[in-house]
Amino acid sequence: MKTVAASSPGKLLLFGDHAVVYGYPSVVTAVDQRMMVTITESEKDGVMYDVLGSDTRFLDAALHTAQLLWGNISHIAVQTKSQFSEKLGLGSSSAVTVSFLFALSEYLSKPLKPIELFNAAYKAVLFVQGVGSGFDVAAAVYGGTIRYVRGGKEITSIDASGLPLVIGYTGTKADTATIVKDVKKKYENNKEKVKRIFEAIGGLVDQVMPRLVDKDWERVGKFMDFNQEYLRDLGVSSEKLEALILAAKNAGALGAKLSGAGGGDCMIALVTNDIRRSVEGAIEKAGGQVIRHASSGAEGVRVEP
Ligand code: PMV
Repeated sequence: MKTVAASSPGKLLLFGDHAVVYGYPSVVTAVDQRMMVTITESEKDGVMYDVLGSDTRFLDAALHTAQLLWGNISHIAVQTKSQFSEKLGLGSSSAVTVSFLFALSEYLSKPLKPIELFNAAYKAVLFVQGVGSGFDVAAAVYGGTIRYVRGGKEITSIDASGLPLVIGYTGTKADTATIVKDVKKKYENNKEKVKRIFEAIGGLVDQVMPRLVDKDWERVGKFMDFNQEYLRDLGVSSEKLEALILAAKNAGALGAKLSGAGGGDCMIALVTNDIRRSVEGAIEKAGGQVIRHASSGAEGVRVEP
């Protein structure tokens, strides 16, 4: 029986959260926690799922997109397996979409260029979510650390290897679509103020780029703190995020911020190796869950043996 498996990484937004939805640049890194999709030939008609949970919306949208590209697809069984919980906000939806489309393209021997895969997966994700800049899709496809502009207008690899991050989960899953819509309301009600925040965040992305390449983590950490201040002004942080961020900073983190929509999910702290343990301990003491074995700059989508 023919079988093909593909996996792609999760993601973390390092800089540019929310502003990226409005066309400002962002920096995203792929994390080494992968989502795998296996396709196996089946005697049965149609497409059968053997998946985690009951939510197949992203697989359905990916399948629909694939059928628009390659015609009817049948006689396959689809299985998913993840190294990370969908609750963490590490991008399981985009990773499953990208892995499935990539696995299908390999299974059908219809190779896609990375940008074609990005476009197809972004379309599928947008169909389900209605909102989103696509940064998570870019991380799943390309991996590494990327300077990213909405819709894939810019996807530029940055060599930020070795970025020493600690990831703290708040224990609450964020409702990204609702928070993005709330920010939109704020933008419409107070355009000048919110635009100023986005411009500041965009400017910060431009300034931090060379620091990332130079691995000047102290300066990168300061930019993280600035970014967090802007996100606070935007009103998307939460008490729990603030508690974990404060704990990390008090334990000596070079910088700390929420990552993504806010309201919950994960925060990130930039550390040096000598303080990693104490920052992790402080986050746990403040009630957070440290996500270990999730190094940054992970490889993008790939076929698995
Ligand atoms: O909540 P997450 O991890 O999916 O991140 C959302 C990031 C936003 O900038 C708020 C939205 C987006 O699609 O870029």
